[in-house]
Amino acid sequence: MLVLGIESSCDETGVALYQHLPDQRDHRAGLLAQTLYSQVRMHADYGGVVPELASRDHIRRLLPLCREALRQAGRTLAQVDAIAYTQGPGLAGALLVGASVANALGFALGVPVIGVHHLEGHLLSPLLATDPPAFPFVALLVSGGHTQLMRVDGVGAYTLLGETMDDAAGEAFDKTAQLLGLGYPGGPALAALAQSGRPGVVRLPRPLLMGNSLDFSFSGLKTAVALASRDTASRYKPADLAAEFQEAVVDVLVAKSLVACETTGLQHLVVAGGVGANQRLRQRLTATAGTIGVRVYYPELSLCTDNGAMIAFAGTLRLSADMLRGYQFTVRPRWDLETLTSP
Ligand code: KG4
Ligand code: ZN
Repeated sequence: MLVLGIESSCDETGVALYQHLPDQRDHRAGLLAQTLYSQVRMHADYGGVVPELASRDHIRRLLPLCREALRQAGRTLAQVDAIAYTQGPGLAGALLVGASVANALGFALGVPVIGVHHLEGHLLSPLLATDPPAFPFVALLVSGGHTQLMRVDGVGAYTLLGETMDDAAGEAFDKTAQLLGLGYPGGPALAALAQSGRPGVVRLPRPLLMGNSLDFSFSGLKTAVALASRDTASRYKPADLAAEFQEAVVDVLVAKSLVACETTGLQHLVVAGGVGANQRLRQRLTATAGTIGVRVYYPELSLCTDNGAMIAFAGTLRLSADMLRGYQFTVRPRWDLETLTSP
């Protein structure tokens, strides 16, 4: 089964082709091609994503990216067996572009079309690594819009363990970067600036660190940076502020991820979402988790941020499970005709 995946939930247009074989254990080998266009430069002038511009740009990019992915994979549109697209959550207009293209192609080709949950795409993307984790595992989902700890028992078997009560971790990175004049999106720029700074010169809080709660709160941290950067008497260096901010976020994410592993008794921790690209987070998580026998898995960097591969892959897993379910028949010796609904 060859699946075309389309991601258009925010400011990245992503397309991928995933080939599913029934006995496939090496999920990575199924990823035949992926193409991506980031709108970051277009939105940078506005300091954030402009939804209307995002939708219009997805319209421009999507079909050329599909053609390029097919070319890279050496396949034709007629060979596509199913189409997966991001159904949500995300920007309504941007999602509609992906949904329209997916459904129009599916209708024209006569193949099934499946809507995928964007966060399920992120959650399952570590399975595309060359050494993937086995179920069950704890997932730390850290993106621009979400910060959640989940227990993952299988495809579609997700239990929320904790989440942010205000800003997401990526959002906190972006807003703090904005305060420090680093532009949009600020996460990678702030992380780069932090490398030349020293954590601890400025002291920032570690919100909700104490106790066993698995919930997060990051909005106060951004306010603390705003207050410290206005403190003209101390003249804190932006690099020191960036380093301390990053350290505070990392301290909280690391501590809570490990509490989640301890309370669930699970020894595999998966990190997904854009903030999962942060090198300091990776370093600290791997080092600390090792001390309590927990192994941490990361998707490769290109699969951390939004991409079409995770949507093609999640769609493929769902479609193949549906196909198997089709063979689990039941019979109805008694069946009231009036219980039927229209197809
Ligand atoms: O998963 P993603 O691409 O999109 C969403 O679904 O939100 O995540 C984007 C977020 C942005 O907030 C971006 O600033 C953050 O991930 N990010 C980073 C880094 N790379 C991306 N944050 C910290 N350090 C990074 N290296
Ligand atoms: Zn995302």
